[in-house]
Parts: sequence; C-alpha cells; structure tokens
Amino acid sequence: MRAQAEQRIGQLYPKITVSAAMVAERPDLAPLQGQALTVIAWLWARTVRSPNPAFSHAEVPLASTFVLSSKAGKGAYVVPVLEGEGYRFAVKVGEAPAEAAEGTAAGKRGGFYCLLSRSPIDYQYIRSEGAAGRMGARLMAIVAEGARGRIYLAPTEEHEAIARKAAPAWRPEVKLHGKCRVNVSNYGLDTYGDLFTPRQLVALTTFSDLVPEAIERCRQDALAAGLPDDGLGLDAGGNGPTAYAEAVGVYLAFALSRTADWGNSLSRWESKAQVPQQLFGRHAIPMIWDFAEANILGSSTGSLDASTQNIYKSFVKSSAEFVIPGHALLDDAQTQGITAQRVVSTDPPYYDNIGYADLSDFFYVWLRKCLRQIFPGLYATVAVPKAQELVATPYRHGSKEKAEAFFLDGMTRAMHNLAEQAHPAFPITIYYAFKQNETSDTTGTTSTGWETFLEAVIRAGFAICGTWPMRTEMGSRMISAGTNALASSIVLVCRQRVANAASVSRREFIRELNAALPGALDEMTRGGVNSPVAPVDLSQAIIGPGMAIFSQYAAVLEADGTPMGVKTALQLINRFLAEDDFDHDTQFCLHWFEQFGWSVAGFGDANTLAQSKGTAVTALVNAGVLESSKGQARLLRWAELPPGWAPETDTRLPVWEALHQLIRALNHAGESAAGALLARMPSRAEPMRALAYRLYTLCERKGWADDARAYNELVTAWSGIEQAAGEAGLVGAQAQFDI
Ligand SMILES: C[S@@+](CC[C@H](N)C(=O)[O-])C[C@H]1O[C@@H](n2cnc3c(N)ncnc32)[C@H](O)[C@@H]1O
Repeated sequence: MRAQAEQRIGQLYPKITVSAAMVAERPDLAPLQGQALTVIAWLWARTVRSPNPAFSHAEVPLASTFVLSSKAGKGAYVVPVLEGEGYRFAVKVGEAPAEAAEGTAAGKRGGFYCLLSRSPIDYQYIRSEGAAGRMGARLMAIVAEGARGRIYLAPTEEHEAIARKAAPAWRPEVKLHGKCRVNVSNYGLDTYGDLFTPRQLVALTTFSDLVPEAIERCRQDALAAGLPDDGLGLDAGGNGPTAYAEAVGVYLAFALSRTADWGNSLSRWESKAQVPQQLFGRHAIPMIWDFAEANILGSSTGSLDASTQNIYKSFVKSSAEFVIPGHALLDDAQTQGITAQRVVSTDPPYYDNIGYADLSDFFYVWLRKCLRQIFPGLYATVAVPKAQELVATPYRHGSKEKAEAFFLDGMTRAMHNLAEQAHPAFPITIYYAFKQNETSDTTGTTSTGWETFLEAVIRAGFAICGTWPMRTEMGSRMISAGTNALASSIVLVCRQRVANAASVSRREFIRELNAALPGALDEMTRGGVNSPVAPVDLSQAIIGPGMAIFSQYAAVLEADGTPMGVKTALQLINRFLAEDDFDHDTQFCLHWFEQFGWSVAGFGDANTLAQSKGTAVTALVNAGVLESSKGQARLLRWAELPPGWAPETDTRLPVWEALHQLIRALNHAGESAAGALLARMPSRAEPMRALAYRLYTLCERKGWADDARAYNELVTAWSGIEQAAGEAGLVGAQAQFDI
C-alpha cells in the first residue's frame, strides 16, 4: 500500500539534497554535501500579517519556540535572519541560547511579537486574522535522517513550494464540536478538514482510497491460495476470502487512523525525543502555533509505515494466546438487547470526563471513508451519533444542571436495562475510571461524577457487593507523566437487589458500617486470601463494603424520613479513612504525626501546618496535645497526658485528645475505666473509633509496631469498652426507658 502511495503522491514528499550553499552557511554539513537525505518532518510556524502598518505586507511567524533539538550534545535551533523588508530562517547546531526557547512568543498570556517590527501581536488580533482566513504557515526547518541521528536543515524554497502545490480532492467537512472546537475555532479552524495541511489531506485521502484496493487484492490472494469461498463479508459473519480481506482492511484503516493522529497541523515537534507528537495527548484539541508535518511516506514516527508496524505489533500481542471472535455493534445502552442472559463486564462513560462522540469524529471521518462499504450499519451517519451519548456535557444540554440530569437519567436507564437482562447467576462488573481530583485519599472529597454514577447504579436496582481498585492506565501517558495521577480504575461488582429489600434508619446504617468496615479494612490492609490493598487505594476499596451495606436496602432513611443520598453515604463510609470530618486540632495532629511521629520538630513547621489546618500552636498547647518550647514542638504521648482529666470541663476537646485519654485509661485501668470515660463523652465515640483505626493503619504502614499495637488494642477492645460505657450509663443520653 505504501509503495502504491509512493507512486501516486511520492512527488509531494521529496528528499532534501545538501547543497554547496547549505554547506557554506553550515560547515558541519560538509560531509553530507551532495547527499539526498530522507525527510523526517517539515517544521512549520503559523503566520499572520504583521499588525504594524509599516510591515502589513509581511506574514510574520507565530513561533512558540525556536528550539529544534534540546538533546544534550545534539542541540539545534532556528535563527531568524532579517533581510531587507523580510526575513528567512537559518538553522544552527549547538546548545540553543536562552532566548530561542521563547520563539516569537511574548510570555504566557502575551501572545507573540512581530519579528520585523517587534510590535505586539495579541490573541485577539490572531483570532480576527484566523477568522478572516488570513492565517498562513511558513516553513521553519527541515528534519532529515542522518547516519547517526537527526540532521536539522534550514527550509528551502523548493520544499516550501512543493508543499503548497498539493491539491486535495477530498476533505472531511464535518464540523468540530465541544472540546475539539473550543480552543481552535476562534482561529478559523471550523471543520475536521481544517486540521490538516493540503498535503496531509492528499496523503490521507490517497491511503483511504487504497484501503478498498488492498482489500480486493487480499481477497484475490486468499482465493488463489484456495481458501474456501463463502462469499460473505465480515458484517454478515463470513469466514472466507472476503471476510479475511476485509479484516486486513480494518487493520489498515486503524493504521490510517493512527497516521492521522500524528499527521495533522496540530502535531507539535518534541525537541527532546525529536519526534512529532500525536494530537490526542489529552481529550481535547489544543491550538498549536508551530507544528511538525511528518513525512507520511518515510519510516519514522508519524509515517504510514510506523503506524502499520505499531498496529501490527498490537495485533500480534493481543492475539498471541487466544483468539475469540469479536463483534462490534452500534447501539444505545439504554435500549440495547444484546446483554440478555449474558455475563456482562462494561466500561461506561464517566460523567463529563471525555466527550467521546466529539473526539471520535476526528477518526470516524477517515474510518468511514475506508470502511463504510464493509460495515454499512456502523458508518451509516456522516458523523458520530451524539444525541444519546451518556456524557454530562453542559454545552450540549444547555446548562450544568441539565447535563447532570440527562446523565443520571440516561445512566440509570442503561444500568436498569443491564440489571434486567443480564444472566442472574453472575455479577455484573462495571469499570469506573477516577479522575485525579476523585482519588485524593486525604481529603475524602466526593465528586459529582462519582456520586452521580453510583446513584444511577443503585437506582437502577443494583446492589453493590464489591469495589476493586485496579491499575488500568499506562503511567507514560501524557496526562500522567510528570503529574501525581494515580491512574486507577475501580471495578464495581453488582448484583440485582432483592425485590423486597427493606428500608433502615440512618442509625442502623451507621451501626452496620461500624460493625463491618473495621474488619473489612483490616482484611484489606493485611491481605487474607487476596493481596493487601495499597494504602493509596484504600479510600476506593473501602467504598465496596460500605456501599454493599447501603445498596442492599431499598432506602436508608434519615431522621426526617427522607432517603439518604449517595453523597452522605459516601461521607459516612469515608469517615473510616478520611480526616476532614475531624476537628482542626485533630487534623493538625494527624498530619504532624504522619510526618514526625512523636519526635521533636521545628516550631516553624508546626506553625505553618497549624495555620493550614485552621488552628494555632498556642491553641494546640492549650488543648493539651502539643508541647512547644525553644523554637520546637512535639506531640504528647498518651502516657504523658495528665491523669484525672474531665471531658465535661475541658473547653477545647479535640478528638485526638479524647482518644489518647481513652487509651491512657484503657492501659492504666482497663476496659471498665475506659468505658466509664467514654460514657462521659458519647458524642466523641464514633470519631474516636475512626481515628484509632486510621492511626492504626498509619502506624502499620510506617512500621511503627508499638504505636500500632496501642491503637489496635483499643480497636479490638472497642465493643467491650462500649458495653462498659453502657453499663456506666451514657451521660447526656437516656440509658433506660422510664417506665
Ligand atoms: C469508558 S469508554 C469505554 C472505553 C473502552 N473500554 C476502551 O477501552 O476503548 C465509554 C464508552 O461508552 C460509549 N457510550 C456513551 N454513551 C453511550 C450510549 N448511550 N450507549 C452506548 N455506548 C455509549 C462511549 O462512546 C465510549 O466509547
């Protein structure tokens, strides 16, 4: 296919010959003089007319950088040379001077400056030029293949002229939507066709025309090889030469898709790795001012060859051990019937995380061109269907609220459809990928996306019987590289809720959580049959046993009779791990303890942390949990706390203090004394228990065995202490019916 493409459009992809003139300017090129080098990429800068009236005849570059290679010892950069009324680009080798990094950019929000007049070019001006169709591009450098690495060359008029000669016979006219539109439409990019240079359009169109030809060729080859002919294509469930050839065509279309991801005018040149970057490093189309146009007929990143190799490798890997017939069908999850009596594992959309349909159009327009004849049902529409898509996109539904309601209703319907149809003997597993802000295990925050999703699952009639944290994303993805992304998914394990499920009170729900979660946490951190859950994953994993309790009931009723929402249930469950329900002093102590244990550390640290937690060092000292003197501070151990402490008269009573006094009582005087103390501060009981649990897991994780033991003893003695508290009579609560 590549050879055919070479025949048809090879003239648009010339080699570059190192001329004597080039060597005169760049003596380092002398050994290459006369050689014709294969181009890896042409690097372009977008241009606008200079806003300075004196230079309005000139198209000046919007270059975000002039650095071509930042590889140590192999640096290269562009140097703009002003000549007469215009300019040209030269290329130099060596480490780039500091100013090259900025190109013609004028700081983060400043836009650019005119290379000729130094006049500022703000974004508003660029937008108006773009909207008027006056944004152009100028060749800034050529990257070619050398015997030992990349060779960077100044642009030539011939190469620029050849690129401008390309006249595409077809272009995708589908309009950009959503996150594919917001960043670029202001600059005049309106349809998918606008995201490609004319030469890229010619190449991709040529490839897509070649796919059906390749299919026919494969079919002939398969027939000639004697494969029994059933005359059926893939869509009709065929298994002979036609289906075989079409399957090859599908993979070639994938390779074309991948080529498009690298072969568009929004592909950045990555100066460290010295390769073009793919467009979709994230789930949106960003605006790029200088771009790399890969040599699609070459063999480096971005070429058809490299893309085909990549698809081939994936194919070999994924089909190495087993091949199971697969089946693709376009249907709406809310009404589909294919899951009847099946075992279902599904990966639904995650609220507003990704605008699949909008993003898919980028690939769909090319896939449709190649594959419509093979899968008429899959490619019936000009663009990807959007109306039924279950994502909460405010722009599509009019407002944030309407988008949320659409998602919740639709997802409930889709889940209900699954719950009703799937085989009752097996649980259904549902993947949920967390966003960064949903995975914070210290804040215990809950997000609308996660809550709404769980709400839909439970409303649909599912009881959740497990939540499994799972690593599903590659760490090297652009989004996670260099950030603290946990890259986790959670698998919800669900069964249909029993038809006559009861309702319970909030109190009963909390009682059940108290009874079940400490044990569940214990099992997760210790690891029994299963390997231990990593501490960072605990906050997700604990939702499983918590939600198992919540979702088995038709409703958990609040004191006023209203059903408890998922948000509240999650907060109650998270309490077993999270700290944000604790008072400010306790939050301070927890953080300090995690960092310094019982050791002494600087007052400055204590002061900063106290401020961030909304308290003060003096307040902590007054509360009786911290000692501070001579510019230092440390937490007081339980054994150092004063005896004879009276919670009723303590005006500042952090849970931290109450818990350590309770441990003191337990260790010094046993369960009944601890029970008697607990009876005097019943409202602290639940937070104390949660804090003890949290401290226990913390100490275990840190390997602080002695401390872990103290908290563990309290947790294991808890029911005895509670009983003793009951016997002592809860102060402030009615201990007996007054009959
Ligand atoms: C999380 S993604 C699945 C990704 C997939 N597991 C993969 O690895 O490629 C969710 C998918 O649900 C699809 N989707 C959204 N709304 C839908 C609906 N109403 N019916 C069926 N599928 C839908 C989206 O197009 C998207 O492909």
